[in-house]
Amino acid sequence: MRINSLQLFQFRNYQSIDIELNPEIVVLYGTNGAGKTNILESIYVGTIGKSHRTNDTSDMLMFNANESGIVVNFEKKDTPQKVNIKLFRQGSKDIRLNDMKISQKELIGTLNTVIFCPEDLQLIKGSPSGRRRFLDMEISQTSATYYHQLLQYNRLLQQRNTLLKEYRGKQNIPLDEWDIQLADMASFLVKKRLESLKKINLLIDLMNRKLTGGLENLTIGYEQTYGEEGNIIYKKEDFYDLLKQNLPQDRHRLTTSVGPHRDDLRFFSDAIDLKKFGSQGQQRTAVLSLKLSELEFIKSEVGEYPVLLLDDVLSELDELRRTNLLQFIHKRIQTVITTTDIHDFKNLPGVQFIHCQEGRIQYG
Ligand SMILES: Nc1ncnc2c1ncn2[C@@H]1O[C@H](COP(=O)(O)OP(=O)(O)OP(=O)(O)O)[C@@H](O)[C@H]1O
Ligand SMILES: [Mg+2]
Repeated sequence: MRINSLQLFQFRNYQSIDIELNPEIVVLYGTNGAGKTNILESIYVGTIGKSHRTNDTSDMLMFNANESGIVVNFEKKDTPQKVNIKLFRQGSKDIRLNDMKISQKELIGTLNTVIFCPEDLQLIKGSPSGRRRFLDMEISQTSATYYHQLLQYNRLLQQRNTLLKEYRGKQNIPLDEWDIQLADMASFLVKKRLESLKKINLLIDLMNRKLTGGLENLTIGYEQTYGEEGNIIYKKEDFYDLLKQNLPQDRHRLTTSVGPHRDDLRFFSDAIDLKKFGSQGQQRTAVLSLKLSELEFIKSEVGEYPVLLLDDVLSELDELRRTNLLQFIHKRIQTVITTTDIHDFKNLPGVQFIHCQEGRIQYG
């Protein structure tokens, strides 16, 4: 996967720019607030149709503009492709692939990227929803069916929760239809997550051994807060039974307590739970290994490496981890890096420098 050029129109602080990207490492540099992350964000919008940092489409439109445009020209397995996205003030979008209108669902999996930003360093310590989102988006980029089912599942779940509220204090709540469908989708999602996690586990351990010099063994476990301990629920019959069993509690709490929307991931280094007992450095290495395994996972599913977007994370990593990361991507993965300090990249071969300043860009 390789991005050749990117055009932005009234996107964030860019009125109109056209950037040619070299196939190896692109370093976007400039002062704080210059617009470096805005460029990575636009590429990410080209990947999944929405931003990694806001749910509100209109935030991305230049102040006072009514529409905004992103065009990404890229090559997938040497075939040139073009994604063209228009964003409108009221929140709607027009997405085109090679000039044909497509839905956001159809866009996912077309341009593959992996983004790594400072907030990701909180992945292990942070909330379960961040870890679920991580896993869901990783699988979605390689399986359109998974993303489709996930959207359906979330829609049904919302409807079920609405019914729980509507029937508050009343008898005979008509949930059976919902529970049959929810159990079916829950089973599909959890099976796919477990299957993907098996692959990711092989890859993450490999990456972690590279980063730590083969010292630590890193694994990711799948966790559920329902069912019996040590026993992962994945069959639709079991989900259905549990939804029924937990109904009194769900009716009391007005929310659904069973299903993949409640599941979590847990990271272990030599059987030590990293969230609870890992040092800051161990947690960072684990996240870095996770991101590298994501690159390998997408490669194994899609057949080539995605483009890597690194938002200011290198400054957060120590010398050794930074060197390991740069060695890993060198000549293998097209990478767009943002930084305020180009010092670290001066001696790297194959680097293209782009200076971002007040909504303009300048090469060199
Ligand atoms: N919708 C918008 N319209 C116009 N300008 C915007 C919009 N949204 C953000 N900006 C501007 O973009 C700039 C922030 O851009 P960005 O987050 O890319 O900065 P950055 O170069 O990554 O900075 P840092 O080094 O601090 O991370 C701010 O100056 C902000 O005012
Ligand atoms: Mg930034």
